[in-house]
Amino acid sequence: MTHPRRRPALLRREAVVATVPVAVAALLTAAGPATAAGSVGAPGVGDPYFPLAGNGGYHVSHYGLTLGYEPSSRHLTGKAVLTARATQRLTRFDLDFKGLKITGLTVDHVKAGYKRDGQELAVTPARPLRKGQTFRVTVAYNGTPGPVTDPDGSLDGWIPTDDGAFVAGEPQGAMTWFPANNHPLDKSSYDFTITVPEDRTAVANGVLLGQRTKNGRTTFRWRQTEPMAAYLATATVGKFQVRQYTTRDGLKVYDAVDPREASAATPVLERLPSVLEWESRLFGPYPFRAAGSIVDRAPNVGYALETQTRPVYDRAPDLSTLVHESAHQWFGDSVSLTSWKDIWLNEGFATYAEWLYAEQHGGDSAQQTFDGLYATPADDGLWEFPPGDPGSGANIFGTPVYARGAMTLHVLRTAVGDRAFFRILRAWATAHRHGNGTTAQFERLAERESGHDLGALFQTWLYGQGKPGEPSPS
Ligand code: TRP
Ligand code: ZN
Repeated sequence: MTHPRRRPALLRREAVVATVPVAVAALLTAAGPATAAGSVGAPGVGDPYFPLAGNGGYHVSHYGLTLGYEPSSRHLTGKAVLTARATQRLTRFDLDFKGLKITGLTVDHVKAGYKRDGQELAVTPARPLRKGQTFRVTVAYNGTPGPVTDPDGSLDGWIPTDDGAFVAGEPQGAMTWFPANNHPLDKSSYDFTITVPEDRTAVANGVLLGQRTKNGRTTFRWRQTEPMAAYLATATVGKFQVRQYTTRDGLKVYDAVDPREASAATPVLERLPSVLEWESRLFGPYPFRAAGSIVDRAPNVGYALETQTRPVYDRAPDLSTLVHESAHQWFGDSVSLTSWKDIWLNEGFATYAEWLYAEQHGGDSAQQTFDGLYATPADDGLWEFPPGDPGSGANIFGTPVYARGAMTLHVLRTAVGDRAFFRILRAWATAHRHGNGTTAQFERLAERESGHDLGALFQTWLYGQGKPGEPSPS
């Protein structure tokens, strides 16, 4: 229950390789998006762990993605229409887009210049954009998409499978299949129109508006209305068994399951309505109008992802993984990160939801789970770095983020008592619903809701080196 959802190889330190030179990182962080030179949009939002993630100078309000995928040749055809608004005058701005060939690019229907350099697609509109101007970028593209390798060695993005593709973009992979402002700070609504061979299903986020089969191909239309970070978008393709139903609360559920995983997955997916009801009682109303699960068979992935409204699993999940990905709908998806450094706000919370679920369903109490972890020797990987300061993008899915992140919440609960603790969780989900949050904001909110001074607690558990309460081994 306490293991992070990743493959064991990632636990090993040798996988730790920074993809962006430190000097570049320092430079971009120092410059920041606000001081972007003149009228040129910055190539990143200023995230120290992923300096080129996202871009400065505009926000995307909507993505319209039209995709066609041919699993046998792995060929993707795409058209992306971004509706955006300039936050400064722009003679040029960047998108994040890696790999695929661009066949056309317009801004407000006028051909625009562009230059590519790694993941940066620099667009020069025919005429500069005024500050506050709404504009539309259309990018036509095609090619054979593949995943990116993250600093921790894991794959994300468009990951081909034997019958389609497993599509999961945390933290970087969205840019492998559509041009994006690829940072959780920029959240947008999405429309997806995805065409695949008629024996395949294409599953994205939100509500299925319709599907239509013609000449051996089926087109699926999906709509994600509530704001979504690019990394939470999916367009997973495969041979799937589909089940659709509406819950007592009026939630539209769409499950897509690889038949090879169905016998293991079905009894777990059946729990989804009750898990979401249980979480709604704890965290406040479920933040989206759609729900569901995508259970694929993707043996080279090694993790599940909380794709918005509809998590994607690389295999049949166990119940505790379903609880984890469901909790992310509140913590991570509705309340999104401002900076990847704050990743414990996602993973610590989702992991603590697993502990709470066990506690309230006849399993170990959260205290027992905490005690078991606390008994881990001081030289264990669990204490290798503090969850509030993982140090680099290579560590964001490390054990301390999940386990010590959850331990931090448990220590908070013990300090303020159950009433205040659950009030804090609900207040956090409410105050930042469909938005973003920072660790500092969470600390202030916890102090406000509880009336306690929690500075020392957070300092110790989020930022202290080594095992709290015992001398550090170094
Ligand atoms: N956020 C996912 C979860 O905990 C895990 C995850 C997503 C992940 N992308 C990853 C883990 C890349 C390791 C590497 O549910
Ligand atoms: Zn998680």
